[in-house]
Amino acid sequence: MTSNSLKKPERSLPFHWYYNPKVFQKEIDKIFNDEWIYVCHVNSIEKNHYRTLNINNKNIVLVKSKSENISVFYNTCLHRGSQIFEDQEGKMKSPVIICPYHQWSYDAISGSLINTTSIKLNNFDKKNYNLQKVNFHIWKGLVFINLKSNKKFKIQSIFQYYDKTVEKIDLENYAVGHIWKKKVQCNWKIYWENYSECLHCPNIHPELSELVPLYQRRLVDIQDHPEWEILKKTESHTKYHGGLKNGAQTWSSDGTSQGHTIEEVQSELESRGQVYISTWPTMFLGIYGDHIRIVRLIPINSEEVELTAEWLFPESTLADRDYKMSNVVDFGILVMNQDARISEVNQRGVYNLGESSGVLMPEEYIIKNFHKYIKNKIKI
Ligand code: FES
Ligand SMILES: [Fe+2]
Repeated sequence: MTSNSLKKPERSLPFHWYYNPKVFQKEIDKIFNDEWIYVCHVNSIEKNHYRTLNINNKNIVLVKSKSENISVFYNTCLHRGSQIFEDQEGKMKSPVIICPYHQWSYDAISGSLINTTSIKLNNFDKKNYNLQKVNFHIWKGLVFINLKSNKKFKIQSIFQYYDKTVEKIDLENYAVGHIWKKKVQCNWKIYWENYSECLHCPNIHPELSELVPLYQRRLVDIQDHPEWEILKKTESHTKYHGGLKNGAQTWSSDGTSQGHTIEEVQSELESRGQVYISTWPTMFLGIYGDHIRIVRLIPINSEEVELTAEWLFPESTLADRDYKMSNVVDFGILVMNQDARISEVNQRGVYNLGESSGVLMPEEYIIKNFHKYIKNKIKI
């Protein structure tokens, strides 16, 4: 089998694409307003609670009812357009949504207008003023929305990088143990590019590179090496072929999984260490020895992106009082902070040479695919 790596240097995107508001607007119109956007795991939100999400100037609200029914609406009252939910998340006071302006009331599950506060009018048909629903789909407990009302969710096409290993896990029943948010001062593509290569691993992630020895080679997969087949046969140091260092079981500060494992995927993880799936432009999901970590990326503007990470565990793991979740959470945050910092450094460098572009080296084949995807979508 041939190697994944690029066979010649490839032009990267023009540097101004990482800050130009016109390019960013194109990306919003052609990518974020068109693709399936990851919102959150259903269990990250309690019953009788809501959560809002901004995508550029659009604001949507996800409501989980007492009966755990999920509804997603545009966060706009049909009277004169007021925003309804002002906070990022909160508790519903009742199964009725009430606009803060003139107090029109809507059913929280269906979005139907229940009452206005005005003098009755004969020819006013309430049916025409229901909350506007947002197209959404729940896959294995993961909530995705699409701002195009007619788009169908097709699992074969939404993940650019997919691995069937995920199908063995009953993700919908997982508990969300921790949520972490961070704003990073870089263009959203810079964070994705950073995620897509390991050239930076040894110097940016010393702890992670110790845990995953292959990363010391600056590779994400042994098959990225042009001579990987020979290496596999001849090298005595198999630890550099993939998987975690000897004795480690998961991505955690001390490498242990404290006796808890995701049994269904152990054989897969033994040789590989971790498994990833990703959907551009908003989410990647990592499967590790004892937990799952999902990272959502939502751009705030052309030079800022918001990260939200969710840590998922089998319920039995969190029920164990001796299990220290901080062992995996702290490690994940350490790695994401390292990536965030260097992504900000990357961003600060792009302004000097706006019309030029950089170059992609052999290991950066995923970035090449990412750029192809962007160009194809925005057609500049
Ligand atoms: S704008 Fe909501 S009730 Fe008037
Ligand atoms: Fe990284």
